[in-house]
Amino acid sequence: MPDLLPTRRHVLAGLSAAALPVMASTPVLAASGPSLRALAAEKGILFGSALSAGTMEPAYLDIVKAECGVIVPENEFKVYVIATQPDRYNFAPGDTIAGFARDNGMKLRGHTLLWNKAEFMPKWLLNIDFGANPAREAERYLRDYIKRVCTHYGDQVFSWDVVNETIDPQTGDIRDTPFTRALGFDCIRIAFEAAREYAPKAQLVYNDYMSWERGNETHRKGVLKLLETLRAKNVPIDGFGIQSHIGNDGHIKEAQNDQWRAFIDAAVGMDYKLLITEFDVNDKDLPTDTAVRDAGVAAAAKDYLDLMFSYKQLDQFLCWGMSDNHSWLQGWTPRADKTPQRPTPYDAQYRPKPLREAIAAALKAAPKR
Ligand code: XIL
Repeated sequence: MPDLLPTRRHVLAGLSAAALPVMASTPVLAASGPSLRALAAEKGILFGSALSAGTMEPAYLDIVKAECGVIVPENEFKVYVIATQPDRYNFAPGDTIAGFARDNGMKLRGHTLLWNKAEFMPKWLLNIDFGANPAREAERYLRDYIKRVCTHYGDQVFSWDVVNETIDPQTGDIRDTPFTRALGFDCIRIAFEAAREYAPKAQLVYNDYMSWERGNETHRKGVLKLLETLRAKNVPIDGFGIQSHIGNDGHIKEAQNDQWRAFIDAAVGMDYKLLITEFDVNDKDLPTDTAVRDAGVAAAAKDYLDLMFSYKQLDQFLCWGMSDNHSWLQGWTPRADKTPQRPTPYDAQYRPKPLREAIAAALKAAPKR
């Protein structure tokens, strides 16, 4: 019997391709036709990706240039890169990404001014002594840091993830960090106010990873409470960034569509713009077979994106990397079978995958905004 490829219909209908043997080396689909940027633009959506200074090889950049209208530095704007030591600011890696965006006529997002999670703070900051008046000194430090970063990049950054991941998924409360110990909720307010002051033209976003799968209920509840509090206190904020690392705990098949819709409805009901800021599909719970896995990833993506694009408040959509070899998930959540993850639109040889086709199909089906 000849080998059969899973058809686009199988992939997009989310049908299992398990019964279909596949030649592993055959590229399943070609990225012919319009770019993802063009398909997105037709619907009023800005499409792009994260880009890291360490992965700027020409073949990869060709894909980024062909497909993206916006990029976001994957790590280079984070405090652990910019401020490895107190009072030393290193903008060189971030400038590399900003320069690439400018040279190629792409927009630039900023990620992130306050990643309020201890794990991602440099050691010196984690152990900082804010002295006799910790609230005053913590506020001074935070405002000064935001001022320096925002003024360095100026109007080039049109949208900032001002605060990232401040909600603890286990408790739904604000995480324990040097800033929350000194300032409580006020550190969030201060971060947004400083961002408004020093990046007055930028869209200001709260970004987090609560997801649509089972197990995210407490996290979603905590984030909603935060979004409500920000509105109640008139904190300057425009958008809600939904990271969209779907399948992140291996629960690719355990979507809670109704709860998820209710969650998004509540956010747009409070007049937040929506963004997909870090899309990828963790394939940890899918079988080893490449074609089966790619079909499962593409089907999950299509379901998710159809739901998300039905919200006209959503007008930015960024992947967290464009090819599998440059995905953070390889090191972060390796598969039990030790084969590389396949979470992004292109494979390690820069061939487009069914996931790219699913994204294109979801964009084509999206209502205009
Ligand atoms: C990740 C990067 O991709 C990795 O390279 C780095 O080691 C850790 O951070 N949520 C976020 C992103 O907001 O900043 C994270 O990026 C992925 C999860």
